[in-house]
Amino acid sequence: MFRGVLFDLDGVITDTAEYHFLAWKALADDLGISIDRQLNEKLKGVSREDSLKTILKFGNKENSFSSEEFAALMKRKNDLYVTMIQHVSPTDVYPGIQSLLDELHHHKIKIALASASKNGPTLLKKMEIEHYFDTVVDPSSLKAGKPAPDIFIAAANQLHIPVSECIGIEDSLAGIQAIKASGAFPIGVGDSENLGKDITLVKRTSYLSFDFLSQTWKKNAATAKN
Ligand code: BG6
Ligand code: MG
Repeated sequence: MFRGVLFDLDGVITDTAEYHFLAWKALADDLGISIDRQLNEKLKGVSREDSLKTILKFGNKENSFSSEEFAALMKRKNDLYVTMIQHVSPTDVYPGIQSLLDELHHHKIKIALASASKNGPTLLKKMEIEHYFDTVVDPSSLKAGKPAPDIFIAAANQLHIPVSECIGIEDSLAGIQAIKASGAFPIGVGDSENLGKDITLVKRTSYLSFDFLSQTWKKNAATAKN
């Protein structure tokens, strides 16, 4: 059986993936770069710095800014994003997540936050779910962001559980790639077009439950044996 669950935050625990998109879009518009939801799929799960690099490259402006200007652009996006998340409250926790956290806690499964966001701890507090998390990975402590496996390996290490005994839950392709590379078992929230056809997917978080995770885990273990 799995002993730990490693959660992404934005787009898995709550709808903040949308605010990241809106904040990047506002900044990109100001820079004369028009980004759409297709490009946004490449930004999901990716660090602030790498997201801005991707946007500037997309707009052929990757060499247009000094490092000070680049830092100022990241700050502008984050200031806008932070304004957008001010009203986040317990009612913003996605359907099924609170009960999943309760069930995991009840079954003594360890819980970690493996989010690339530096705003993660603030959001957990705003949603009043921080007490469920046995550990939160500090993304600034990592050498490489998603799709590198570092954050999921760190999360399992911080839980003192082998990563191969953990499930990772993600809504981004970069995050799924990171989970796979870490050796944890991936469950995706979203569709196969964006996340791939080779992993267990749920369309919505309301399908996530302890039973669903256990059954998926057992099925995979049985397939691996055959
Ligand atoms: C990830 C989001 O969780 O965190 C990305 O999916 C975001 O969109 C990244 O860029 C970093 O977040 P922040 O809040 O530190 O800028
Ligand atoms: Mg996400």
